[in-house]
Formats: sequence, C-alpha cells, structure tokens
Amino acid sequence: MRFGHFDDAAREYVISTPRTPYPWINYLGTEEFFGLVSHTGGGYCFYRDARLRRLTRYRYNNVPTDVGGRYFYVHDDGDFWTPGWAPVKRELDFYECRVGLSYTKITGERKGLRAEVLYFVPLGTTAEVHRVTLKNTSKAPKSVKLFSFVEFCLWDASDDQNNYQRNLSIGEVEVDGGTIYHKTEYRERRNHYAVHSVNAKVAGFDTDRESFLGPWNGFGEPQAVAEGRSRNSVASGWSPIGSHQLAVDLAPGEERSFVFVLGYVENPVEEKWEGPGVVNKARARQLLARFQTTAQVDAALVALRDYWTEMLSKYTVKSGDERLDRMVNIWNPYQCMVTFNLSRSASYFETGIGRGMGFRDSNQDLLGFVHLVPSRARERILDIAATQKPDGSAYHQYQPLTKRGNNDIGSGFNDDPLWLISGTAAYIKESGDLSVLKETVPFDNDPKDAATLFEHLKRSFHHVLNNLGPHGLPLIGRADWNDCLNLNCFSETPGESFQTTGNRTGRTAESVFIAGLFVHVAPDYAALAEAMGLESEAKAARFHAVRMEETVLKHGWDGEWFLRAYDFFGKKVGSKECEDGQILIEPQGYCVMAGIGVKEGHAKKALDSVKARLDTAHGIVLNQPPYSAYHVELGEISSYPPGYKENAGIFCHNNPWVMIAETVLGRGERAFEYWKKIAPAYREEISEVHRLEPYVYAQMIAGKDAVRHGEAKNSWLTGTAAWNFVAISQHLLGVRPELLGLRVNPCLSAEIPSFTVTRRCRGAEYRIRVKNAATGQPARLRVDGKPIEGTLVPWAPAGATVTIDCEV
Ligand code: BGC
Ligand code: NOJ
Repeated sequence: MRFGHFDDAAREYVISTPRTPYPWINYLGTEEFFGLVSHTGGGYCFYRDARLRRLTRYRYNNVPTDVGGRYFYVHDDGDFWTPGWAPVKRELDFYECRVGLSYTKITGERKGLRAEVLYFVPLGTTAEVHRVTLKNTSKAPKSVKLFSFVEFCLWDASDDQNNYQRNLSIGEVEVDGGTIYHKTEYRERRNHYAVHSVNAKVAGFDTDRESFLGPWNGFGEPQAVAEGRSRNSVASGWSPIGSHQLAVDLAPGEERSFVFVLGYVENPVEEKWEGPGVVNKARARQLLARFQTTAQVDAALVALRDYWTEMLSKYTVKSGDERLDRMVNIWNPYQCMVTFNLSRSASYFETGIGRGMGFRDSNQDLLGFVHLVPSRARERILDIAATQKPDGSAYHQYQPLTKRGNNDIGSGFNDDPLWLISGTAAYIKESGDLSVLKETVPFDNDPKDAATLFEHLKRSFHHVLNNLGPHGLPLIGRADWNDCLNLNCFSETPGESFQTTGNRTGRTAESVFIAGLFVHVAPDYAALAEAMGLESEAKAARFHAVRMEETVLKHGWDGEWFLRAYDFFGKKVGSKECEDGQILIEPQGYCVMAGIGVKEGHAKKALDSVKARLDTAHGIVLNQPPYSAYHVELGEISSYPPGYKENAGIFCHNNPWVMIAETVLGRGERAFEYWKKIAPAYREEISEVHRLEPYVYAQMIAGKDAVRHGEAKNSWLTGTAAWNFVAISQHLLGVRPELLGLRVNPCLSAEIPSFTVTRRCRGAEYRIRVKNAATGQPARLRVDGKPIEGTLVPWAPAGATVTIDCEV
C-alpha cells in the first residue's frame, strides 16, 4: 500500500494523505542552517549544531509522535484549521505534501480556502523561509485570519529540556512591528539571536506561549486562533514563542502570498546593542531585506533548484526501470548530502543532543558524497584527520562547532582509523587532487603536533599492525564497525554504556572484520604511498596485506564462511561451533570485497552461506541464529530482542557490502536482487509494512526473528545511504573513479538489458552506453569508437566528452 507517489520530473515525492504510518520528514538547508520538517509541518531548526544552536523547540518521544513545528493556522469565519492537517486535525477537502530537494510544500484546502506552505532554506542563508499562499477557491469573498507559530528553544537543546528552575525565568524577546526577536541569554554571553518576521502589516502578535495557547490547551487548539484574536503578549520568562496574526481579505478566486522568515543572526561582541538593552538589529534587517517579495523568494527557489540540478548531473542513469533511476538520480544522492551534513545528529530517531560527528560514520558518508562537492569533502577530511591521536587511534566522535574530539566517548574503536584511508582515497579518486596528502594536519587538534595528511594515513594503517592479537588478527578494542560487539565490556550494570565500558582490558579479542577492512584499504594506501614517492612504504603495505590475507584464511575461516571474531577468552564468535550467532554478515561482505579467498573458493562458499542462512524477503539479516539471551562476553549485540538492530536485524548499511562482494564474483543477478529488497523506491508499495519514508533508506529493517518483520526504523542518518550509492552506482552499474581512470565494468541482472550512464568527473563528461547480457565476465569497451584492453578508461582532459560503448 502506498501513501503517495513519486513525481520524478519535479524530483518530488508527493504524499497524498496526512495519515502516513509515521511522520515522514524532509531536510531543509544545505550548508550551515538546517531544518527538519515533517509532512504535517512538524520539526525544528538549528544553526550548524543541533544541540548548541537550536532555534525552535521539539519534544521527542511525544504523544502523538510529531508535536511541535512551524505551524500556520487559518481562522476562517469561526472555523480554524492547519494546512498540514495536524496539529488541529480538522478534516481537509484536499491535502498534499510535496517532499522536494531541500524544500517541502504542504497544501491543505477546506471550505473554499486553499493554503499552501512552502518551507526552505535559501542558499547561503542562515534562515528558513516559509511562504504561505492563501487562495479563495469559493464563490464568495472571504475575510480570514492567518496565524504563524514557532516555539523558541533556549538554544542548548539539552539544557532546554532539563534545567527548568533557571529556564522558566530567562526567556526574553523584543517585538518590532512584524518582527519578533528571541534574545534569551543575549544579555549575557551569547552574541546571537533568532528573528521571526513577516513581510506584511500584522494585525496582532504573541510571544508568550501560554497567552497564545491558553493555559490548558495544546497546539491543536490555541485559544488566540480559536477566538481569531492575538493577545499581543510579550514574553517574560516561561516559554517564548513567535506568532504573527495577519488579516487577509480575499475576493473569489483571489490569491495572496506572505513571506515569513525564521533566521539566526550573530553580532560581533562590540556590536551587540543599539541602545541599552536593545538588540542591534542591523544584520537581521539585512537578512530580512533579501526576502521581502514573492519574486525574491521565487528567485531563491530557482537558485536552489539549479544547485540540485548541477549536483545531480554528476551521475545519471537511464535504465528503463524507473525505480532504479529515481534512486540513483535523485533520492540516494540527496540522502548522501543529508548524511554528509548532519552525520548522525538530528533526525526523528536522533535527538540532535546525543551524538557529534562520527569518525567512522563521516568517513563512510564521504564515499557517497564525494562526487557531489569534492571541495567540501576535502575540508571534511582535514577536519576529521585533525581529531586523530598521535598513535593513529581516533576519537570516535567530534563536535561540529568546536571540531574537537569528544572525550566522553574517547577512542578505542579499532576500525575507526582505517576509514580515514577509505575516505581520503575516495576523494582523491574523484578529484585527482593528490596535494591533499601534503596538507599539514594536527593530531588531536594540537598545532604543536602536526604532520602531513599522508602521515595520518600511515599512522592509521600501522595502528592496526601495532595492535594485533594472539592469532595475528587485529584487536577489536571497544568495538569495530559493529558498535554492539563489545568483547572487552563485560557489563553487568544497568545503564552502563556498552561502548565506553571496558571492564576487562585484555589484548585478546580480535576482529576478522577489521582484517578484511585492512586488506581492502591496503591497495589504496599503497598507491597513495607511491604517489608520495614512498616506494618502500608501498611495498611494505602490500606485504602486510598479503600476510593479513593469509592470517584470515588460516584463523578467520570457519569452513563455510568467515568467522566474525575471537572473544576475550579466545573463543570463536560467528562459528558453527556457537549455539547462537553462528554466522555474522560483516566479514562475509568485507573479506570478499577485499578479494580474500576468491581464488580458493572460500569467497563463493561464504556468499552462498549468506544466501542460505541470512537472506529474507526484506533483506539480509546481520546474524543467525539471533542471540536468544544476554552474553556478557559479547556485549550489546546480545542485549537486543531477536530480529532488532544488531541482533539479527536487517542492517541496510552492510547489505551493500554483500552486493559488492557478489559483483566481485560476477554474480550481478543476485546483487541486484539484494539491492531491490532494501531500496526504498522498491519498498514503496509495501509502505504499510515498511512504515518509514519510501524515498530514503532506513538504518534497519526488522529481521525474520522479529515480531514486526519488514518494519523499518531509523531513517535518513545512516551509512546505508553512502554504501548503497557506492554499490549500485559503482559496482552494479559499474562506473567508478579510480586513480588512473574511470572504471567501467557493470555487473547487473539481465532484467536491465541496456542502460546509459552519464558521469561528470574531473571536468570531463563520460557518456556510457551499456548492453547487458549479464555474462558475469569483465566488460568489453570501445572508447570513442576504438576498442580498448581491459575496463579502465584513462582520464580525459577537462572539457572533453568521451563516448564509451560497453558490452558485458
Ligand atoms: C546503534 C549505533 C550506536 C550504538 C551505540 C547501536 O545499536 O546501531 O547507531 O552507535 O548502538 O549507541
Ligand atoms: C550506527 C553507527 O552510527 C555506525 O557507526 C555503526 O557502524 C553501526 N550503527 C553498526 O553498529
């Protein structure tokens, strides 16, 4: 069952009922100022850091789920309603929410009045624009009242929901005509305020929540709206809000638009005031002047569309399968941009106060983002590398505002350092910019201890070699990619963090996954060493990779699949000898991606075991059988009920590793089948089961052991976005940048007999026509009409157009 449809020409998903199974959201903003907006107008916004610079309040874990947002209420002759249906929930004669690229447009109509609300953050702007268009679709004149509403957050979103003894006394605003200034804490240490304004004469306003709602009401029945009369309240403590009231007369058929701006303004400390206690509004006025007319808003919207058109032109496919095309051309890159910007901070499953930027997460996000804006990827790599510690280990997370490593979580996740090599290599392959390797980057943000970026990669690589366990496999530390495989944790205390508790500190627990990752990054690392003129380092790296591969085959092979780990006691994890958790997905995917065991036939066996034991109708589960009880020696993985999260959930992040691994063996049929099971556009038709947005991936779909098999959780902010883009675009469609050229080697099901890919890279354009007989063999290429050896098309000069004919 569907709750809307894709409109590919407009690059939108059109939700046609407000009664979706869960709030379906979108993101506004592209660089600094971001908003989350649900299909009913719920959500919030912030400047750069979802915790420390939150403009509007949002209550997670609410009942119903999605309460609080930037709302517009219409009062029409005693009848009042909201165009997004909620929060008033008055029945609408028409409802539609268009989820677009960095904008959302919600339209509601009731009793001859149509209200359309467009939400977006214009490029280069630290504000949201909300354009409200009211149209009288009836045959009689109408006099309606329009109320805006936002509830301000007292900036630190964590403190905002904890420290009421202080917070209920500090709220302050200024009202200047149609402009409301939220200046809480501006009197003391803050140099920023929020502004909420409208480009029309107001008939009233409110800035005190209780005055607007009435003491006993929720957002669904504000007293001011019900009575059609603002209170002109000025907040003093309690809960500051921003609400405007407009009186709008509309002749039959007439339509009028109003532009509301909700923005963030920073003043230099010496320019904070324009009079005693009076906020200096000069910068706010400059901001507002940019959005005074509908024409200005239209122009900003066109600029945003053009930005996305340019962005999406880097990789486009035409395959005859519209679901494939819309994932690759629109929604997957869009999600990659969102994960690049927000890491795992703020979604409807992440509160924005918990996690900073993850070291491993951000590096993986780059894999799917790097072709969109390589220069931003470069900057990000340098930021991430600056949080690495001198011994090559890494802070697991850092804070986006300060860019400093997060001490609460610390380091010790032994896969982390290697992802820096993957991220950097992806950037260099895309851009050809080897100069980044020579950039000077501090360790642990200490300018006194700095070295080249290449030296950082070197310490990453050697951190693994310096931390090998009894079998010569990498020590796992607190956990590897699987945050929940905590082999040194031994936690018996409720509430203790599985990730940061290490009750045993032995150097015994080893990870086969990290070994696979190590072998996978080694060729890239060696090639970068060569590019730096470091022949002997390159040679050493290749030697260590071969040795690690041998170690995996010797100590990391279980007979039918790769082992997952050795625990603290040296006992096998993910082995046929185990009762639960006999096979885990991660090493099957990664070891085969790295080429381990391909010639020995182990790779094929491992992937066939995945198919036989882990595959389901909704994707590949993480492990089988699920852990049925808590294992103190394994940690959080065994804390989840069977079928959820890391305990046999379908982790959509690691499914693409298996898809890529299948292409290593030339099995495009199976790779494509796996992809279609989890790709949201293909799951759209079972939205009542999947329940989350059909336009973006979710981190997890409940596995076959779960009661709610097939139900997704944790949409948007997940490494799933980047990895699925890599799998489908680079390995199944088979077009991927390498250091020396563009690799064209598709491996796709015969269901797609032909397709074209247009790839823009390093200033040139590659037009690729593929005839796909799904032979499972390497492709045969003609470049500008001439056959070439192999599948690597050398880089063309900037400005060139290259035509590639491919048969496979
Ligand atoms: C989640 C991760 C998270 C970890 C620690 C896991 O279940 O998948 O997203 O980092 O728990 O909270
Ligand atoms: C989500 C985390 O953000 C990611 O870093 C981790 O690899 C997966 N969960 C698996 O545990």
